[in-house]
Amino acid sequence: MFEVSTEELLLWIQNIKTEEEDRDSLYLLIDLLGGISRSEINSFRIKPRKIINMKVSLDSLSHSWTEFIQNKKPIQYLSSNCYWRDLNLEINEHVLIPRVETEQITDIALNLIGDPRKELIITDLGTGSGAIAISLALKCSTWTVLATDIDQNAINLASKNFKKYSNKNNLKLLCGRWWQPLKKYAGKIDIAISNPPYIPLKVYKNLSISVKNHEPQKALNGGDDGLLHIREIIKEAPKYLKRDGWLLLENHFDQAQKVKTLMLHYGFESIKTIKDLYGIGRFTIGRYK
Ligand SMILES: C[S@@+](CC[C@H](N)C(=O)[O-])C[C@H]1O[C@@H](n2cnc3c(N)ncnc32)[C@H](O)[C@@H]1O
Repeated sequence: MFEVSTEELLLWIQNIKTEEEDRDSLYLLIDLLGGISRSEINSFRIKPRKIINMKVSLDSLSHSWTEFIQNKKPIQYLSSNCYWRDLNLEINEHVLIPRVETEQITDIALNLIGDPRKELIITDLGTGSGAIAISLALKCSTWTVLATDIDQNAINLASKNFKKYSNKNNLKLLCGRWWQPLKKYAGKIDIAISNPPYIPLKVYKNLSISVKNHEPQKALNGGDDGLLHIREIIKEAPKYLKRDGWLLLENHFDQAQKVKTLMLHYGFESIKTIKDLYGIGRFTIGRYK
């Protein structure tokens, strides 16, 4: 721990020259690296305290800030953790920073489940840091959550993240391509969820440096039309879902209609697009009949 006076911290903040759009990142850095939240900082402004304990020194914060500004490295990778829903997850270069819009997936899944006392088998395909799978496994220990990812590093990290919150064994993490590790669950899955890579290659190539240089390409690139992985997931889903089981997918802002058409083609009914908090048709659900 590093002892810092609140005056020193406030002065340090004041001396950082930031563009307005980077202001939130500065506070996120102080929170995730220094362990001091924005609301605490605001309270120091109203009611100064003398000495606080920070997890890192102000010099170290300055160093990380420079790396954020010069190399566009996201704060979450600099601090190796991120907030997502009510979780604080460890992340690294092998996994995507879980996005705020994806938080809604857990709520959509919980709505589909309805009665939480049911025993269910739920899957999260392409789990990354484990965000979606962990949020659901923590909701109810009688649900079995099966999470897959093509990257063993992601599986290891998701396992570490789950252990931070639970000593139960209702989350099973399996390495492999989409449904492939789930052969023994064929026909038994109640709800399958995925936030797969869905960004069309041309769009991916023009993404910001902070994404392209730091986030794993395999978590984002959805091939020429962005639908490469979505197509594979939908096509294989009927082998793995129970009759009446749900498939819930996140998709790119303009893919909802195409995802709907694919689901219809592979035998899904009750297909619906659900808008995210920005009014974008971000999620598609369908029931396998
Ligand atoms: C958009 S990220 C989503 C990560 C996490 N579920 C989230 O919402 O933050 C997509 C994930 O799919 C994984 N992935 C990519 N190709 C895959 C494949 N063929 N089979 C399984 N997982 C794959 C990536 O490693 C990455 O973790």
